[in-house]
Amino acid sequence: MRFEGYVIVSDDGMLADAQNVMPAALKFEGDKRFFTAALDRAALIVHGRNSHEDQPNSPGRKRIVLTRRVAGVEPDPSNPNALLWNPARAPFEAACARAGVTSGTIAIIGGPSVFDMFMDRYDTFWLSVAPRVRLPGGEPCFPGVGPRTPQQVLGLHGMKPGEAAMLDPADGVSVTPWRRS
Ligand SMILES: NC(=O)c1ccc[n+]([C@@H]2O[C@H](COP(=O)([O-])OP(=O)(O)OC[C@H]3O[C@@H](n4cnc5c(N)ncnc54)[C@H](OP(=O)(O)O)[C@@H]3O)[C@@H](O)[C@H]2O)c1
Repeated sequence: MRFEGYVIVSDDGMLADAQNVMPAALKFEGDKRFFTAALDRAALIVHGRNSHEDQPNSPGRKRIVLTRRVAGVEPDPSNPNALLWNPARAPFEAACARAGVTSGTIAIIGGPSVFDMFMDRYDTFWLSVAPRVRLPGGEPCFPGVGPRTPQQVLGLHGMKPGEAAMLDPADGVSVTPWRRS
């Protein structure tokens, strides 16, 4: 299995605003196209209870949703393609096996504590940055962001930046693959 992370952050490293909502200011067409295509290729999507990607193809995607409300791994009563997983009570591999996924790309899409849990497993972390957006008092994309930048956190976990690709030239939004060296 291959682990890939995806996030778009403001210039100050936030993935959501002070109300813990991803604001319209962080939504860009080019980044959305990039993210949609990546999730369409993934074998499995993993996220916390508040981080659904909410795209037209979402219902067809296999996913694991983290929550402390279940005893281990249980079906999601609201989505036949989803499992609810409590990592304190069952290993990730058990959740994957239950989902029937043993190979392919696992897309980790947040929030911060979920990104953190996989920090030493990413093959590539795709960091999109919106350089003209600032979200003071917002939610840092990873634990430790604030004192550090998202780039510093990825570097501290052994990843190095590749070449950035421009996604939304009008707004300067680009994505950089951070790969384990
Ligand atoms: N800009 C971006 O690219 C991006 C990416 C991701 C998210 N976001 C935004 O960030 C905000 C969501 O952030 P959030 O902090 O609420 O994160 P979240 O991880 O989506 O949701 C938090 C919930 O997930 C569950 N959870 C997380 N870690 C867990 C763990 N280790 N063990 C068990 N359960 C765990 C818990 O659910 P229970 O309460 O059920 O136990 C927790 O309350 C949303 O506004 C979202 O849109 C933005």
